[in-house]
Amino acid sequence: MEFSIKKLAPETAKAGCIVVGVHQAGELTQAARAVDQASKGAVRAALRDLSGKTGSTLLLRGLPGVAAERVLLVGLGEHEEFAEGAFRDAVRAAAGALKELGAKDAALFLADLKVGSRPSAWNVRHAVLAMCEAFYRFDELKTQKKSPDPALASVILPFSPNSQLEQALTEAAATADGAALARKLGNLPANLCTPTYLAEEAKKIARQFKLGIDVLERRDMEKLGMGAMLSVTRASHQPPKFIVLRYSGTAKSTRPVVLVGKGITFDTGGISLKPAGEMDEMKFDMSGAAAVLGTVRALAAMKAPVNVIGVAPACENMPGGHASRPGDVVTTLSGQTVEILNTDAEGRLILCDALTYAERFKPEIVVDIATLTGACVIALGHVASGLFANDQKLADEIRDAADDAWDRVWQMPLWEDYQEQLRSNFADMANIGGRPAGSVTAACFLARFTRKQRWAHLDIAGTAWKSGREKGSTGRPVPLLVRFLLRHAGGK
Ligand code: BES
Ligand code: MN
Ligand code: ZN
Repeated sequence: MEFSIKKLAPETAKAGCIVVGVHQAGELTQAARAVDQASKGAVRAALRDLSGKTGSTLLLRGLPGVAAERVLLVGLGEHEEFAEGAFRDAVRAAAGALKELGAKDAALFLADLKVGSRPSAWNVRHAVLAMCEAFYRFDELKTQKKSPDPALASVILPFSPNSQLEQALTEAAATADGAALARKLGNLPANLCTPTYLAEEAKKIARQFKLGIDVLERRDMEKLGMGAMLSVTRASHQPPKFIVLRYSGTAKSTRPVVLVGKGITFDTGGISLKPAGEMDEMKFDMSGAAAVLGTVRALAAMKAPVNVIGVAPACENMPGGHASRPGDVVTTLSGQTVEILNTDAEGRLILCDALTYAERFKPEIVVDIATLTGACVIALGHVASGLFANDQKLADEIRDAADDAWDRVWQMPLWEDYQEQLRSNFADMANIGGRPAGSVTAACFLARFTRKQRWAHLDIAGTAWKSGREKGSTGRPVPLLVRFLLRHAGGK
């Protein structure tokens, strides 16, 4: 889908469909009023069939005095309550309706609605991202395509063009592609999306955008001494891969931001086997790695002025004769020893070695992204990702970027008081801290490997995918990460 910015009047826009908003209680937006006047009241007359609730839609055809063949009315809810969430819901609803139509092009007179104090660039970014999210499909594994490809090929956003808005458009389109890649990788099952597959995808990105890439093999990990990562992959027949993807978009002297993504392509729990219910969803346990690849791709595609290194340790967590046992003690790349009390707490074991490895890049900032704990889902549900950081300025920066991207986070404590839960009688630390504050003790474990760095951790266990009827990857937190990196580069 192509987007463009063009100043148009709704009644004269020559498009297969124009989309205009209507608030609850029949209050027309400016664009809806213009169409209503041009059509001598056809919009008002139709309102009795539209509730005006956010996301409700009504299609009108062949209105007199209106150039476009179709007019799609979209409910915006109460005017006083119209804000970020309603804006995105309205665009998504419009996309849902447009998918079904034969229109090849549409002009989106929702995009220019004022959302609080957000600048127009915000509207452009979110209109594009919400549209692309709604048009995403994953049907490559179905032999019978359920629905034909949508006809809609181009969308006009009705703003007076300027360089800021064009830049917002470029950013959003690249972000949408990055998020779509993350979603595809998440949705692919673990028999197809193996560590090797992830490494091949990373190589593809590297070729396409001329990025640097290294893929470490098992013997490299052994030579380095990644005892924690190796303990997780032990029983898997899939070879582990440690992916490093480098994009340089600015001066060599600028220290990079390193993104580290958990890439467990399937998490059975290992010997501490998970219960059968919903275990299929553990194919999404590589969503952190997918988000890292998607983010690096997005930044490279938009030629962002940043230096970023994506690190994705990838392996499977399986039971078997070679599997790690509860009670095993391993030596991490940092030299610290860990008693593996539960083999299902494997994410932190691959991440701790990856975080130590990240030190070699002398990063300005390290951010890890991981579907790390079920406890985070209990704490924050499916709305906010958990944010932890050993630097409050960094935490504030990430939170602000997350609000901007509407890909939100909520900060959790990383206090030393929690560290004692990781005490072990046999090693420097245990890999679990018991039931209380499970997502905090997981973060505290990682903190022991990032003492020398400015570091933040995003627990995306509740936000990386949806369950139930809508089961599927969300592509989060690609929008947040892209926004963070761009804002960070701009603020320097
Ligand atoms: N990948 C899971 C976390 C997870 C579970 C994410 C459910 C989303 C939904 C992780 O590897 C895990 O198993 N964590 C354990 C840790 C526990 C053993 C301390 C958990 O959360 O139960
Ligand atoms: Mn696990
Ligand atoms: Zn896991």
